[in-house]
Amino acid sequence: MSFLKHHAKFETNVLLLMVGILVTVIIGGIVEIVPLFTIQETIENVQGIRPYSPLEQAGRDIYVREGCYVCHSQMIRPFRDEVERYGHYSLAAESMYDHPFQWGSKRIGPDLARVGGKYSNDWHVRHLANPRDVVPESIMPGYGFMHRALAYDDVEARMKVLRLVGVPYTEDDIANAKADLAAQAGDANTEALLQRYPKASIGKKDRTTDQVTEMDALVAYLQVLGTMVDFSTMKPEAIR
Ligand code: HEC
Repeated sequence: MSFLKHHAKFETNVLLLMVGILVTVIIGGIVEIVPLFTIQETIENVQGIRPYSPLEQAGRDIYVREGCYVCHSQMIRPFRDEVERYGHYSLAAESMYDHPFQWGSKRIGPDLARVGGKYSNDWHVRHLANPRDVVPESIMPGYGFMHRALAYDDVEARMKVLRLVGVPYTEDDIANAKADLAAQAGDANTEALLQRYPKASIGKKDRTTDQVTEMDALVAYLQVLGTMVDFSTMKPEAIR
Protein backbone atom coordinates (compact mmCIF):
# COMPACT_ATOMS: atom_id res chain seq x y z
CA MET A 1 0.00 0.00 0.00
CA SER A 2 1.44 3.31 -1.06
CA PHE A 3 0.55 5.49 1.96
CA LEU A 4 2.63 3.25 4.18
CA LYS A 5 5.69 4.46 2.29
CA HIS A 6 4.86 8.07 3.32
CA HIS A 7 4.31 6.93 6.87
CA ALA A 8 8.00 6.04 7.11
CA LYS A 9 8.87 9.65 6.19
CA PHE A 10 6.84 10.97 9.14
CA GLU A 11 8.33 8.50 11.55
CA THR A 12 11.92 9.26 10.68
CA ASN A 13 11.63 13.07 10.58
CA VAL A 14 10.97 14.73 13.97
CA LEU A 15 9.94 18.04 12.46
CA LEU A 16 7.52 16.50 9.98
CA LEU A 17 6.03 14.35 12.75
CA MET A 18 5.47 17.43 14.95
CA VAL A 19 3.80 19.32 12.12
CA GLY A 20 1.64 16.27 11.43
CA ILE A 21 0.57 16.03 15.10
CA LEU A 22 -0.19 19.75 15.20
CA VAL A 23 -2.39 19.59 12.10
CA THR A 24 -4.28 16.61 13.52
CA VAL A 25 -4.84 18.31 16.88
CA ILE A 26 -6.04 21.51 15.19
CA ILE A 27 -8.60 19.61 13.12
CA GLY A 28 -9.83 17.82 16.26
CA GLY A 29 -10.03 21.14 18.11
CA ILE A 30 -12.03 22.83 15.37
CA VAL A 31 -14.50 19.96 15.24
CA GLU A 32 -15.10 20.33 19.00
CA ILE A 33 -15.16 24.13 19.20
CA VAL A 34 -17.06 25.25 16.11
CA PRO A 35 -20.48 23.89 17.22
CA LEU A 36 -20.19 26.02 20.39
CA PHE A 37 -20.44 29.19 18.27
CA THR A 38 -24.06 28.33 17.58
CA ILE A 39 -24.93 27.39 21.18
CA GLN A 40 -27.25 30.40 21.43
CA GLU A 41 -29.47 28.88 18.79
CA THR A 42 -29.17 25.39 20.25
CA ILE A 43 -30.84 26.32 23.53
CA GLU A 44 -34.33 27.50 22.61
CA ASN A 45 -35.90 30.35 24.52
CA VAL A 46 -38.86 28.60 26.10
CA GLN A 47 -41.61 30.38 27.96
CA GLY A 48 -42.18 29.38 31.56
CA ILE A 49 -38.63 28.39 32.51
CA ARG A 50 -37.64 30.19 35.70
CA PRO A 51 -34.97 29.73 38.38
CA TYR A 52 -35.93 27.44 41.27
CA SER A 53 -37.62 28.97 44.31
CA PRO A 54 -35.48 28.93 47.48
CA LEU A 55 -37.39 25.89 48.85
CA GLU A 56 -37.13 24.01 45.54
CA GLN A 57 -33.44 24.84 45.32
CA ALA A 58 -32.91 23.54 48.87
CA GLY A 59 -34.69 20.35 47.82
CA ARG A 60 -32.52 20.11 44.75
CA ASP A 61 -29.40 20.38 46.91
CA ILE A 62 -30.71 17.46 48.99
CA TYR A 63 -31.39 15.49 45.80
CA VAL A 64 -27.75 16.02 44.79
CA ARG A 65 -26.45 15.34 48.31
CA GLU A 66 -28.29 12.01 48.51
CA GLY A 67 -27.20 10.94 45.04
CA CYS A 68 -30.70 10.34 43.70
CA TYR A 69 -29.12 10.74 40.24
CA VAL A 70 -27.33 7.43 40.79
CA CYS A 71 -30.66 5.69 40.18
CA HIS A 72 -32.75 8.34 38.42
CA SER A 73 -32.18 10.25 35.20
CA GLN A 74 -33.81 13.59 34.40
CA MET A 75 -33.66 13.51 30.65
CA ILE A 76 -36.38 12.17 28.40
CA ARG A 77 -34.85 11.25 25.08
CA PRO A 78 -36.71 12.01 21.83
CA PHE A 79 -37.68 8.39 21.20
CA ARG A 80 -41.21 7.13 20.92
CA ASP A 81 -41.05 4.67 23.83
CA GLU A 82 -39.67 7.36 26.14
CA VAL A 83 -42.13 10.04 25.08
CA GLU A 84 -45.08 7.66 25.52
CA ARG A 85 -43.94 6.67 28.98
CA TYR A 86 -42.70 9.97 30.41
CA GLY A 87 -44.14 12.77 28.27
CA HIS A 88 -42.62 15.39 25.95
CA TYR A 89 -38.88 14.89 25.46
CA SER A 90 -36.65 17.14 27.55
CA LEU A 91 -35.69 20.54 26.14
CA ALA A 92 -32.23 22.02 26.68
CA ALA A 93 -33.87 25.09 28.22
CA GLU A 94 -35.47 22.97 30.94
CA SER A 95 -32.11 22.41 32.58
CA MET A 96 -30.57 25.82 31.79
CA TYR A 97 -30.65 26.82 35.49
CA ASP A 98 -29.50 23.43 36.78
CA HIS A 99 -26.09 23.57 38.41
CA PRO A 100 -25.02 20.81 38.32
CA PHE A 101 -27.43 19.29 35.79
CA GLN A 102 -29.08 15.98 36.79
CA TRP A 103 -29.44 14.31 33.41
CA GLY A 104 -27.90 11.17 34.84
CA SER A 105 -26.84 8.06 32.99
CA LYS A 106 -28.56 5.33 34.99
CA ARG A 107 -32.18 4.33 35.40
CA ILE A 108 -32.50 1.87 38.23
CA GLY A 109 -35.68 3.81 38.95
CA PRO A 110 -37.78 5.73 36.40
CA ASP A 111 -36.84 9.05 34.81
CA LEU A 112 -37.97 11.97 36.99
CA ALA A 113 -37.81 14.85 34.49
CA ARG A 114 -41.64 15.14 34.47
CA VAL A 115 -42.60 13.61 37.81
CA GLY A 116 -44.08 16.94 39.02
CA GLY A 117 -47.84 16.66 39.58
CA LYS A 118 -47.86 12.90 38.90
CA TYR A 119 -48.44 12.01 42.58
CA SER A 120 -49.85 13.83 45.61
CA ASN A 121 -47.58 15.39 48.22
CA ASP A 122 -48.65 12.72 50.71
CA TRP A 123 -47.67 9.98 48.28
CA HIS A 124 -44.18 11.48 47.93
CA VAL A 125 -43.69 11.85 51.68
CA ARG A 126 -44.76 8.25 52.33
CA HIS A 127 -42.75 6.97 49.39
CA LEU A 128 -39.57 8.77 50.48
CA ALA A 129 -39.97 7.63 54.10
CA ASN A 130 -40.41 4.01 53.05
CA PRO A 131 -40.95 3.22 49.35
CA ARG A 132 -42.36 -0.24 50.18
CA ASP A 133 -45.38 1.40 51.87
CA VAL A 134 -46.72 2.53 48.50
CA VAL A 135 -44.83 0.36 45.99
CA PRO A 136 -44.46 -3.08 47.65
CA GLU A 137 -41.88 -4.39 45.17
CA SER A 138 -39.70 -1.24 45.30
CA ILE A 139 -35.94 -1.54 45.81
CA MET A 140 -35.48 2.19 46.45
CA PRO A 141 -33.87 2.99 49.84
CA GLY A 142 -35.93 4.79 52.50
CA TYR A 143 -35.16 8.35 53.52
CA GLY A 144 -37.15 8.62 56.75
CA PHE A 145 -34.44 10.73 58.36
CA MET A 146 -35.55 13.60 56.12
CA HIS A 147 -38.34 14.33 58.57
CA ARG A 148 -35.61 16.34 60.33
CA ALA A 149 -35.50 20.15 60.19
CA LEU A 150 -34.18 21.75 57.02
CA ALA A 151 -31.03 23.82 57.64
CA TYR A 152 -31.45 26.91 55.50
CA ASP A 153 -29.37 29.64 57.13
CA ASP A 154 -27.20 29.79 54.03
CA VAL A 155 -30.01 29.99 51.46
CA GLU A 156 -29.04 33.52 50.33
CA ALA A 157 -25.38 32.53 49.96
CA ARG A 158 -26.37 29.55 47.82
CA MET A 159 -28.48 31.77 45.56
CA LYS A 160 -25.61 34.25 45.20
CA VAL A 161 -23.29 31.46 44.09
CA LEU A 162 -25.86 30.31 41.53
CA ARG A 163 -26.09 33.90 40.31
CA LEU A 164 -22.33 33.87 39.76
CA VAL A 165 -22.74 30.99 37.32
CA GLY A 166 -25.60 32.64 35.47
CA VAL A 167 -28.90 32.02 37.27
CA PRO A 168 -30.74 35.37 37.09
CA TYR A 169 -31.73 35.80 40.76
CA THR A 170 -32.42 39.48 41.46
CA GLU A 171 -31.48 41.41 44.63
CA ASP A 172 -35.16 41.20 45.50
CA ASP A 173 -35.20 37.41 45.15
CA ILE A 174 -32.20 37.11 47.46
CA ALA A 175 -33.49 39.61 50.03
CA ASN A 176 -36.76 37.66 50.24
CA ALA A 177 -35.23 34.19 50.12
CA LYS A 178 -35.94 33.13 53.72
CA ALA A 179 -39.44 34.62 53.70
CA ASP A 180 -40.21 32.91 50.37
CA LEU A 181 -38.89 29.60 51.65
CA ALA A 182 -41.01 29.73 54.80
CA ALA A 183 -44.06 30.90 52.84
CA GLN A 184 -43.85 28.05 50.35
CA ALA A 185 -43.46 25.45 53.10
CA GLY A 186 -46.31 26.83 55.19
CA ASP A 187 -49.63 28.50 54.79
CA ALA A 188 -48.39 32.11 54.93
CA ASN A 189 -49.17 34.70 52.26
CA THR A 190 -47.72 33.30 49.03
CA GLU A 191 -48.74 36.04 46.59
CA ALA A 192 -45.27 37.60 46.30
CA LEU A 193 -43.71 34.15 46.10
CA LEU A 194 -45.93 33.12 43.20
CA GLN A 195 -45.15 36.36 41.38
CA ARG A 196 -41.47 35.56 41.61
CA TYR A 197 -41.82 31.81 41.07
CA PRO A 198 -44.98 30.98 39.09
CA LYS A 199 -46.36 27.44 39.48
CA ALA A 200 -44.38 26.79 42.69
CA SER A 201 -45.98 23.98 44.67
CA ILE A 202 -47.36 25.67 47.77
CA GLY A 203 -48.14 24.28 51.21
CA LYS A 204 -46.80 21.98 53.89
CA LYS A 205 -45.82 18.59 52.46
CA ASP A 206 -44.46 16.77 55.49
CA ARG A 207 -47.34 16.60 57.95
CA THR A 208 -45.38 14.80 60.69
CA THR A 209 -44.20 18.11 62.19
CA ASP A 210 -44.79 21.86 62.02
CA GLN A 211 -41.20 22.84 61.30
CA VAL A 212 -39.84 23.04 57.75
CA THR A 213 -38.23 19.67 57.03
CA GLU A 214 -35.89 18.34 54.37
CA MET A 215 -38.84 16.34 53.08
CA ASP A 216 -40.78 19.61 52.49
CA ALA A 217 -37.94 20.93 50.35
CA LEU A 218 -37.36 17.72 48.40
CA VAL A 219 -41.06 17.23 47.61
CA ALA A 220 -41.43 20.90 46.55
CA TYR A 221 -38.57 20.25 44.12
CA LEU A 222 -40.02 16.96 42.81
CA GLN A 223 -43.42 18.58 42.30
CA VAL A 224 -42.04 21.33 40.02
CA LEU A 225 -40.02 18.97 37.81
CA GLY A 226 -41.24 19.17 34.24
CA THR A 227 -44.17 21.47 35.02
CA MET A 228 -42.70 24.86 34.09
CA VAL A 229 -43.32 24.59 30.35
CA ASP A 230 -46.89 24.44 29.08
CA PHE A 231 -46.54 21.97 26.21
CA SER A 232 -49.99 22.72 24.83
CA THR A 233 -48.79 26.18 23.79
CA MET A 234 -44.99 25.75 23.67
CA LYS A 235 -43.24 27.05 20.54
CA PRO A 236 -39.43 26.82 20.73
CA GLU A 237 -37.67 29.87 19.28
CA ALA A 238 -34.02 30.78 19.13
CA ILE A 239 -32.58 33.26 21.65
CA ARG A 240 -31.28 36.38 19.94
C1 HEC B 1 -30.99 2.39 44.62
C2 HEC B 1 -31.66 3.15 43.59
C3 HEC B 1 -32.51 4.35 44.00
C4 HEC B 1 -32.14 5.47 44.66
C5 HEC B 1 -30.78 5.82 45.28
C6 HEC B 1 -33.27 6.36 44.65
N1 HEC B 1 -34.32 5.76 44.00
FE1 HEC B 1 -36.13 6.58 43.62
N2 HEC B 1 -36.76 4.85 42.75
C7 HEC B 1 -35.98 3.73 42.58
C8 HEC B 1 -36.81 2.68 42.00
C9 HEC B 1 -36.35 1.27 41.67
C10 HEC B 1 -38.11 3.22 41.81
C11 HEC B 1 -39.36 2.50 41.25
C12 HEC B 1 -40.13 1.84 42.40
C13 HEC B 1 -40.77 2.84 43.30
O1 HEC B 1 -41.64 3.62 42.86
O2 HEC B 1 -40.38 2.90 44.49
C14 HEC B 1 -38.03 4.60 42.28
C15 HEC B 1 -39.08 5.49 42.23
C16 HEC B 1 -39.01 6.83 42.58
C17 HEC B 1 -40.05 7.81 42.37
C18 HEC B 1 -41.41 7.54 41.71
C19 HEC B 1 -41.23 7.77 40.22
C20 HEC B 1 -42.44 7.40 39.38
O3 HEC B 1 -42.59 8.03 38.32
O4 HEC B 1 -43.20 6.51 39.76
C21 HEC B 1 -39.61 9.00 42.87
C22 HEC B 1 -40.34 10.32 42.89
C23 HEC B 1 -38.27 8.77 43.38
N3 HEC B 1 -37.94 7.44 43.17
C24 HEC B 1 -37.49 9.73 43.98
C25 HEC B 1 -36.22 9.49 44.49
C26 HEC B 1 -35.45 10.49 45.21
C27 HEC B 1 -35.90 11.91 45.47
C28 HEC B 1 -34.29 9.89 45.58
C29 HEC B 1 -33.15 10.48 46.41
C30 HEC B 1 -33.52 10.97 47.72
C31 HEC B 1 -34.32 8.53 45.08
N4 HEC B 1 -35.50 8.32 44.43
C32 HEC B 1 -33.29 7.61 45.23
C33 HEC B 1 -34.65 3.60 42.89
C34 HEC B 1 -33.89 4.53 43.58
